[in-house]
Amino acid sequence: MRIDILTIFPGMFSGPFEESIVKRAVEKGLVQIFLHDIRDYASDKHRTVDDYPFGGGQGMLMKPEPLFAAVEDVQGQAAERGPIVLLTPQGRLFDQEVAVELARQDRLIVICGHYEGVDARVHEHLATDEISIGDYVLSGGELAAMVVVDAVVRQIPGALGSPLSSGDDSFAQGLLEHPQYTRPAEFRGMSVPEVLLSGNHGEIARWRRRQSLLRTAQNRPDLLASAELTEEEKQWLLTNLSSQ
Ligand code: ADE
Repeated sequence: MRIDILTIFPGMFSGPFEESIVKRAVEKGLVQIFLHDIRDYASDKHRTVDDYPFGGGQGMLMKPEPLFAAVEDVQGQAAERGPIVLLTPQGRLFDQEVAVELARQDRLIVICGHYEGVDARVHEHLATDEISIGDYVLSGGELAAMVVVDAVVRQIPGALGSPLSSGDDSFAQGLLEHPQYTRPAEFRGMSVPEVLLSGNHGEIARWRRRQSLLRTAQNRPDLLASAELTEEEKQWLLTNLSSQ
């Protein structure tokens, strides 16, 4: 997969992409990430990328010309085609399903908006996909792009140490992940649930599933609505939720 990121702050990406899973995926050749400075595509000597909104209003908007020029140039740098994703609080909400969908692409072009927003012609005629990472407003699309790239890259086969790792993540099964423990079995009087030390894989799997259901019911009841529960699990949950 090839990911091209268009930004006015390429320097912001150096930390997060030079550590951990994204770094390893790049080293393994699973993904190539290219950063492009939108200012390189401005046509004036001040490298202007923003301007006042027509009709008045607060703040500045990103101009269309540098963004169209940047996308057109970057698109021509490789044969692969894929979505042109604009990060914006007005986009569809990013979740694990969107991450999986994007990870199937050969290529992503990611545009980081800034200032008070982006000229509407970019939304309507350049971007093929608009994504928001949540119902809050960031100072720019850069942090959102890092979130999206991280979540997408870990879905690429081979990016994680074990092929099973991402299937266990929260949301992978539509539920939150169960609690996990490592050594020591006893720490400051807090002990690991006995069942996890039992070696009984059937019992461990049942405990994990129930804990997943409990956590989801407590923290994200909205997710539980679309999960498939057996009658026994529903009963268990009712009893255990009311006893909390
Ligand atoms: N840019 C500013 N806020 C954002 C958000 N919540 N998601 C994506 N891009 C953004």
